Amino acid sequence: MTVKVGNEIFDKLGMKYPIVEGGMTWAGTGALAAAISEAGGLGFIGTGYWHGDDVRKEVRRAKALTDKPFGVNVMLMSRHIREVFDVIIEEGVKVVATGAGDPSPFLDELHAAGIVVMPVIPSVSLAKMMQRKGVDAVIAEGMESGGHIGQMTTMALVPQVVDAVDIPVIAAGGIADGRGVAAALCLGASGVQMGTRFLASPESEVHENFKKKIIKARDIDTIVTGNIAGSRARVLKNKMAKEYVKKEIEEAQKPAPDYETVEKLESGTLRAAVQQGDKDGGAFMAGQISGLIHEEKPVADILADTWAQATDILGIPNTTK
Ligand SMILES: Cc1cc2nc3c(=O)[nH]c(=O)nc-3n(C[C@H](O)[C@H](O)[C@H](O)COP(=O)(O)O)c2cc1C
Repeated sequence: MTVKVGNEIFDKLGMKYPIVEGGMTWAGTGALAAAISEAGGLGFIGTGYWHGDDVRKEVRRAKALTDKPFGVNVMLMSRHIREVFDVIIEEGVKVVATGAGDPSPFLDELHAAGIVVMPVIPSVSLAKMMQRKGVDAVIAEGMESGGHIGQMTTMALVPQVVDAVDIPVIAAGGIADGRGVAAALCLGASGVQMGTRFLASPESEVHENFKKKIIKARDIDTIVTGNIAGSRARVLKNKMAKEYVKKEIEEAQKPAPDYETVEKLESGTLRAAVQQGDKDGGAFMAGQISGLIHEEKPVADILADTWAQATDILGIPNTTK
């Protein structure tokens, strides 16, 4: 059996490597997305709960830096989602990745505008549902990932999703070098999505403290907040994360737990980590693979080295050489 590298979407977008940047709210800026697309991957701008105008500003920043296609990652739960999609269509963005919800109400208009739609999914049932609704590909994301996560691991999730759907599957979570890419392709994915690895690069605009924390991290240095009180998110351990987890456990013992107050502890903390490098109070979202990242590296080198290693392991031609 040979692995299938890439898919028709990657071909259409003219990508050199089957490697996508995971959308990362605040951390995945237009500059980082542009650098990744320019180097032959597919960059994504993370937009979280942003207004349309903020999305437009960042999209224009990326456009000023590259002529290559890049994507926008949207949070479907956002109150501003309508204006965000208007901006995406107006600005001619080529790809949208969606999280936290069902993109199907917007599919027809996005497809009419020629936009590829790839939801992030944490389970086989959601992958099948998304295929039925007509999305173009799915990003199967394991709980090793940084940021908001489901329950399945990448290793267990990806082959099950591959068997369940006919559309391209992109594997995400716990991938930071060529071994991870080769493994994902062996599981049947046609490409990978990486988040944490790209944060430790000169093109990444996260605060120096964030980069240092990833580089210093060991395998066991992440923790999941929100297991009880809210939505689960993987972050690097610090004062805020430990307090959050302690408080949600305390609250769960009470007859009438007040999870809303616990959840508020996390409000604004990702931005504080990304922009201020707030060591104690920030939410340094990052994956378990942080322990494999020992140095800052330009995104062009991350992509080239990762792909060279993957093709070497798989014994397939490194077509970009
Ligand atoms: C700082 C940070 C912020 C993230 N924000 C988002 C987001 O806004 N939307 C989303 O779909 N995924 C988000 N993610 C997940 C990434 O897109 C990606 O799937 C994940 O990082 C892949 O796992 P890895 O960190 O092991 O590479 C975030 C991840 C990180 C590290």
